Amino acid sequence: MQLMTCTNFVGMIGNPLLKLDRDVPATYEYFWSHGMISDEIFLAISHSCDFEDYTFNSPHNESKSCNDAIAEANNIVGEYINNYDVILDVCYPSIVMQELRLRKYATKISVGVDVCMTYETFFYFNLPEVQQALHANRTHLKYHWSMCSDILNYSNTDGNINILPTLQRIVEHKIPLWVFSGDQDSVVPLLGSRTLVRELAHTMGLHVTVPYSTWFRKGQVGGWVTEYGNFLTFATVRGASHMVPFAQPDRALRLFQSIVLGQRLPNTTNPPIG
Ligand SMILES: *[C@@H]1O[C@H](CO)[C@@H](O)[C@H](O)[C@H]1NC(C)=O
Ligand SMILES: *[C@@H]1O[C@H](CO)[C@@H](O)[C@H](O)[C@H]1NC(C)=O
Ligand SMILES: *[C@@H]1O[C@H](CO)[C@@H](O)[C@H](O)[C@H]1NC(C)=O
Ligand SMILES: *[C@@H]1O[C@H](CO)[C@@H](O)[C@H](O)[C@H]1NC(C)=O
Repeated sequence: MQLMTCTNFVGMIGNPLLKLDRDVPATYEYFWSHGMISDEIFLAISHSCDFEDYTFNSPHNESKSCNDAIAEANNIVGEYINNYDVILDVCYPSIVMQELRLRKYATKISVGVDVCMTYETFFYFNLPEVQQALHANRTHLKYHWSMCSDILNYSNTDGNINILPTLQRIVEHKIPLWVFSGDQDSVVPLLGSRTLVRELAHTMGLHVTVPYSTWFRKGQVGGWVTEYGNFLTFATVRGASHMVPFAQPDRALRLFQSIVLGQRLPNTTNPPIG
């Protein structure tokens, strides 16, 4: 009997929440290293929070002093920063929704990105004629379409699950796995993902097969990449948000191409700069 071989599987996961004890402190390290909070607040968090036992839901199984420091950090960052891409300007929802209602069209471009896209999408997919054209919502649901909703009743404890054993099983089955990070995201920053991938490689005894180095797209640095044991890759996408294609669609496409074709990212560019 011939065994069926499945060679077409790849795994990819972007700006993923993998393990809270690393991913949560990474957010405050990111704030601190990007000048978004003071030394004092960062030190207060470092001293009063024990991220080993951090839980997803508030009060996070942490002390009052820790929760106070975290609240102060979030307060200083404020609501005029897009945490999912800290270099983009923010969208003013009330203004854009009014424009959409009046003209069915609105854009607010910052660093080449339409930062109000979330609201435009919300408006668009709730238009009756769009739903009809897509043959969607034929049952006339009693609530609006939205990108994230509570309809699925996610469990309050799901956020505490350590995902690394799952990633390990994927790599043990010799399925190539890519973990990538848009490097402007402060919600699940590269700082946590990079460490967790390295620790996973260490746990599995995988050696570095591509040393941490730049990858290129159209003569510019697309990000940084490293590979372990020929199967596990960590890559950043330079200038990208939490949803990598949102702010860097072209670099995202190049990354996606490498992932699905099973090729390494280009580590040189032509012509050279010199
Ligand atoms: C909360 O933290 C304590 C230690 O401070 C730990 O023993 C306990 O298991 C934690 N609870 C949860 C639900 O993680
Ligand atoms: C479905 O359609 C109804 C109108 O028939 C609308 O009120 C509702 O917002 C829509 N829901 C979704 C999820 O699209
Ligand atoms: C979610 O919970 C609500 C209220 O408890 C219930 O009516 C609904 O059926 C649940 N939805 C799913 C998908 O389980
Ligand atoms: C680029 O990648 C190739 C193929 O993996 C490798 O042989 C070469 O040493 C790398 N070059 C640099 C500059 O890292």
